[in-house]
Amino acid sequence: MEGASSQLGLPRDLPGRLLVAGGAGFIGSAFVRLLLALDTGPEITVLDKLTYAGNLRNLQEVEHHPRYRFVQGDICDRELADRLGAEVDCIVNFAAESHVDRSILDPDAFIRTDVYGTYSLLEAARRHHHRRFLQVSTDEVYGDVEAPQLSVESDPLRPRSPYSASKAGAEMQCLAYHATYGLPVVVTRGSNTYGPFQYPEKIVPLFVTQALDGGPLPVYGDGGAVRDYLYVDDHARGIATVLARGEPGAAYNLGQGAEPLNGLQVADSVLELVGAPRELIQHVQDRPGHDRRYALDSSRARSLGWAPELDFTSGMARTVAWYRQRRDWWEPIKSGEFLEFYRRNYRPLEPAGPTS
Ligand code: NAD
Ligand code: DAU
Repeated sequence: MEGASSQLGLPRDLPGRLLVAGGAGFIGSAFVRLLLALDTGPEITVLDKLTYAGNLRNLQEVEHHPRYRFVQGDICDRELADRLGAEVDCIVNFAAESHVDRSILDPDAFIRTDVYGTYSLLEAARRHHHRRFLQVSTDEVYGDVEAPQLSVESDPLRPRSPYSASKAGAEMQCLAYHATYGLPVVVTRGSNTYGPFQYPEKIVPLFVTQALDGGPLPVYGDGGAVRDYLYVDDHARGIATVLARGEPGAAYNLGQGAEPLNGLQVADSVLELVGAPRELIQHVQDRPGHDRRYALDSSRARSLGWAPELDFTSGMARTVAWYRQRRDWWEPIKSGEFLEFYRRNYRPLEPAGPTS
C-alpha cells in the first residue's frame, strides 16, 4: 500500500468505502482509475446517470476490478441515494451538469442535478453518519477576477452563469450541512481541467479534435478571456488529498498556479502540437456574460502536500497524443446530440456596423 500510494503521490489515509457520484464523467473517471490503481485502497461504487457526458468506456479499464462496481442512476433519486449511502462511509460528488454554454441555453438540468442532486446526497450522508463528504466544486464560483488578483477560499462567491450559480448553491448547502449538522464536509474548487476522456464540447478537446480533422477552432469574441489550466490527473490527486487530509468545513482551491492562458493561446498551442495552420482559428460570437478571468491561490491545498505534476506544455502534449490515438473514443461522440448542440451554440460574428 505504502509503495503504491506514494508512487501515485496519494495520501494513505483515505476512507474505506466510497460512493463516487458522476464517476463515469471526465474527472470522476480519472479519480476512480487513480484510486483503483492502488494495491490497497478504497472500495468504490460509481453512481452515474450516464447523461450525454457520462461514458462507461471511460471506466473500461477498471470494469473487472474487485474493488469496483457501477450503478446507473440519478443522484436526485432520494431512495437510491439513501440505499447506496447505507453501504458506504463517504460520498465524493462529481455528478453535475458541467458545461457553461449548455447552462446558458437551458439551465433547468443544472438546477435539478447540481442543486437538488447535491442535497439528495447530503441527506444520505447525514442519515448514515458518513466519515466524509467531498463536494467537487469549481473556481467559477468566485466569478470574474480582476488581474493581478488571485482568489482565496475566504473570498465572497459571485457566480455569474447559471452553471456557476448552481455550483455555488450546491457547495453552500454542503457547508451549511457542516455548520448545522456537523457533517464532515470538504469542498474543492478546481480550475479549468483538460486531458484524456474529456467530452469534446470544452475548449481543449473541442479544439484538438477540430484541428485533427482540419475543422474550424471557434474562439469566442476576441479570444482574450483567461483560465488556469490544470491536467486531469493532477486535479484527481488534489481531490484525493483533500478527501484524506482536508479540514471538515473548509474549501480548497486546486489550480495550476502558472500564468493563466487565453483562448487564442490555447488555440495556438493545439495548432502547433497537431501541426495544423492558424487559418483554422475562427472568431465567433462571444459567450453571454463571459467571465474574463479566473485565477487561484492554491496554497491551502499545497499545505496538505498536493502540487500539480505536469505543466501546460507536458499536459497538452499528452492530451493531443491521446486524442490522436483514440479516434475510436471521440469520433462517435461528435455526431447526433453533439452536432445539434454545436449548431445551437455557435454563431458567426456580427458584421461590423457602419462607421461614422
Ligand atoms: P462531466 O460532464 O464530464 O461529467 C459529469 C458526470 O456526471 C457524467 O458522467 C454524468 O453522466 C454524471 N451526471 C450528470 N447528472 C447526473 C445525475 N443527475 N445523477 C447522476 N449522475 C449524473 O464533468 P467533469 O468535467 O468531469 O466535471 C466533474 C465535476 O467537476 C463537476 O461537478 C464539475 O462542476 C466539476 N469541475 C469541472 C471542471 C472542468 O474543467 N471540467 C473544473 C472544476 C470543477
Ligand atoms: O474553471 C472551471 C470550469 O472550467 C469548470 O467548472 C467547468 O465545468 C468547465 O467546463 C470549465 O468551464 P469554462 O467555461 O472555463 O470552460 P470552456 O472549455 O467551456 O471554456 C474555456 C474558455 O475558452 C472560456 O474563456 C471560453 C473559451 N471558449 C470555449 C469554447 C468551448 C472558446 O473560446 N471557444 C469554445 O468553443
